[in-house]
Amino acid sequence: MCGIVGYIGDKKATPILINGLLSLEYRGYDSAGIAVLDKDKIVVRKDKGRVNNLYDLVGINDLTGTVGIAHTRWATHGKPSKENAHPHMDNSSTFAVVHNGIIENYTEIRSFLENKGYKFLSQTDTEVIPNLIHYYSENGIQGENPFLRAVKSAVDDLKGSYAIGVISNKYPDRLIAVRKDSPLVIGKGIGENFIASDIPAILPYTREFYLPDDNEFVEIYENKVQFYDSSLVEHSKAIKNIEWDACAAEKDGFEDYMLKEIYEQSSAIRETIGSRFRLGEKCDFDDLNFSKEFLSSINKIYIVACGTAMHAGLTGKTIIEKLCKIPVTVDIASEFRYRDPIIDKNTLCIFISQSGETADTIAALKLSKEKGATTLAISNVIGSSITREANYTIYTHAGPEIAVASTKAYSSQVVLLAILAIYFAEVLDSTSNEVLENLKSEILDLPVKISNILDNTEEIKAFAKKVYTEKDMFFLGRGTDYNVALEGSLKLKEISYIHSEAYAAGELKHGPIALIENNVTVIGIITDPKLIEKSLSNIQEVITRGAKTLIITNQIIPSDHFNYVINIPNTSALLSPILSVIPLQLLSYYISKNKGLDVDKPRNLAKSVTVE
Ligand code: F6R
Repeated sequence: MCGIVGYIGDKKATPILINGLLSLEYRGYDSAGIAVLDKDKIVVRKDKGRVNNLYDLVGINDLTGTVGIAHTRWATHGKPSKENAHPHMDNSSTFAVVHNGIIENYTEIRSFLENKGYKFLSQTDTEVIPNLIHYYSENGIQGENPFLRAVKSAVDDLKGSYAIGVISNKYPDRLIAVRKDSPLVIGKGIGENFIASDIPAILPYTREFYLPDDNEFVEIYENKVQFYDSSLVEHSKAIKNIEWDACAAEKDGFEDYMLKEIYEQSSAIRETIGSRFRLGEKCDFDDLNFSKEFLSSINKIYIVACGTAMHAGLTGKTIIEKLCKIPVTVDIASEFRYRDPIIDKNTLCIFISQSGETADTIAALKLSKEKGATTLAISNVIGSSITREANYTIYTHAGPEIAVASTKAYSSQVVLLAILAIYFAEVLDSTSNEVLENLKSEILDLPVKISNILDNTEEIKAFAKKVYTEKDMFFLGRGTDYNVALEGSLKLKEISYIHSEAYAAGELKHGPIALIENNVTVIGIITDPKLIEKSLSNIQEVITRGAKTLIITNQIIPSDHFNYVINIPNTSALLSPILSVIPLQLLSYYISKNKGLDVDKPRNLAKSVTVE
C-alpha cells in the first residue's frame, strides 16, 4: 500500500508529482506529501487527508524545482497526521525519503540512531531511513559515489519490505530508488525520468519502463538510468514497452472508476479470451506448454489468493476438479503460508493476484517454490512482482483496475481459470471433447450476456434505493452460487459499510438462521439447475421467518414467492459466477452511492495490499 512517485527532468516537478499521486491514491489516501529540490534546499509539503489537500498547502505552487519525490499514504505505523505523512527527512535536512512497505526492525534502528543523538519527529518506521542514510554518509563511507553507498549501507540494515525513493540537496542531479518485495517501476522519458509504484501513474509521460528486481539499486538522472546489483556492480537492464492506452486508466465519462470497470467486463473478458482458443481447435497456452506427462504427474493443485481473487479461485476449483479430475484446495494466502501445507514436486500451486503485488500471496508463492511445487501466477499486471517469482505466468489482460473494489479482475480471473481447466483437460484427455467444446462456446457468449445484464439495471438501482439504510444483509447460494454469495457480501461490506454474511444455503440451519428476523434482507443466488429445489427450500426457510428476499437467477422459479427477482441470462453452472456477480456488484455500487460514500476509495482499504 502507499503510492510513491518521483521525477527528475527539465520540467517543474510539482504538477507531475501531484498528477502521479492522484492516480496512485487507490493505494492509500490518508495523507500525502511532496519533497522538491528548490535551489539548494529540500522543501517538503505534506499533511493528512487526500492528495487534493496538497493543493491547498501554502506555497505549493511556488515550488519550481525540477527534482522531487511524493507519496500517498496508507497508515501502518503511526496514525494519519502531518508528522507521519511522507516524505521524511533526516535531522540535517539533507536527505528526503518516500517509502512503501514496512521496516520490521525499525525500533532497533531507531534506538541505535537515538543513541547517536538523532531525534525523531514521527511514529513511522520510515523516518529511520533518511537518518540512517545520513548516519552512513557521515560515518565510514569511502570511495566514489558516496550518496549511493550511503543508501546501500542503510538499506543493508533494513528488514522487511520496501520501495524507496531518495533525493538529496547535496546531490541535486539524481534520485535513487531501490525495492524489495514492494512494487516500483522506472519510467524512461526524453530528458526526464520517473519512478512510481505502478505504471498508470506515469503513463501520460512515457511508454518505456524498466522493472527493477528486488535488491537492485537504481540511480536516476535527467538523461540516464543506471542499475546496480546488491553489491553495487553496474549492469544494464532491458526496457519494456507498455501498450496500455493512458485513457484506459481514466474515467471515460463514468462517475466512478468502479462503475466504469463494471461496464468494462464484456471487453475485459474478450481480452482475456484473446486468442486462447477458437471453436473446434485446442486451447493455446504457448506460455505454459504443459506436456501430458507433466500434468499427469500433478496429483494435487492449490489455488492461493486473497479476497476477491480467492473467490475467483473457488470457482476455478470447481471447474478444474470437474474437467481434470485433479483435487484442488483453495486457500487464503495469509493462512496457507503458516499452516505448513503438504507440497511436493507433484503439486501445482496457482496464485491469483490482480495487482501481482499482494504480500501474502507472494510469500505463499515463495514458500511453495521452496517446497518444490511448480508455481503458476495469474495476474493482471505485466511484470508485477508475482509474475517475476513464479515459474509460469498467464495474464488476465483485463486492463488497469483502479477502483479499490475489484470487479472486472474477478470476472476475467474466473474466465482465465475456466480456459486453463479446459486446456488441462485437453492435454490430459480427461473430459469429452463435446463437453469442452460446449463450454468454449458458452465462454465466447459471455461478453454479450454481460452486456445484456448491464443494459438493464433499473431493477437493481430501485432495489438499492429501498435497502441502502439497512444494517445487515445475508447472501445465500449453493455450489458455485455460494462463491458468488461470498463475493457479493465482500463487495457490500467494502464499499457500502453494511454488515453482511454469506452462507452456503444448506448450512443456514446449522446456526446462522438464528439471525433471521422480520424484514431482514436475504439475497439468494440460484443458477445451478441441479441444486434449484434445495436452494429454493433454503430460501423458503428464511421467508417463513420474515425475511424479504431478492433472488438472482437464470432458472424458472415461482417468482411470486419472493419480493424481488432479477433474471440473468443462462449459461453453464460452471460459468454462472461470471454473470450472477454483476447484479451484486451493481447493488453494492448503488447502495454506496445512495449513502453518499466514496465508491472508489472506501475507508481503511487500499488497492494493493503490500503488507502482510
Ligand atoms: C476486493 C478486493 C480485495 C483484493 C485482494 C487481493 O474487492 O479488491 O479483496 O481482491 O486484496 O488483491 P490482488 O488480487 O491484487 O492480490
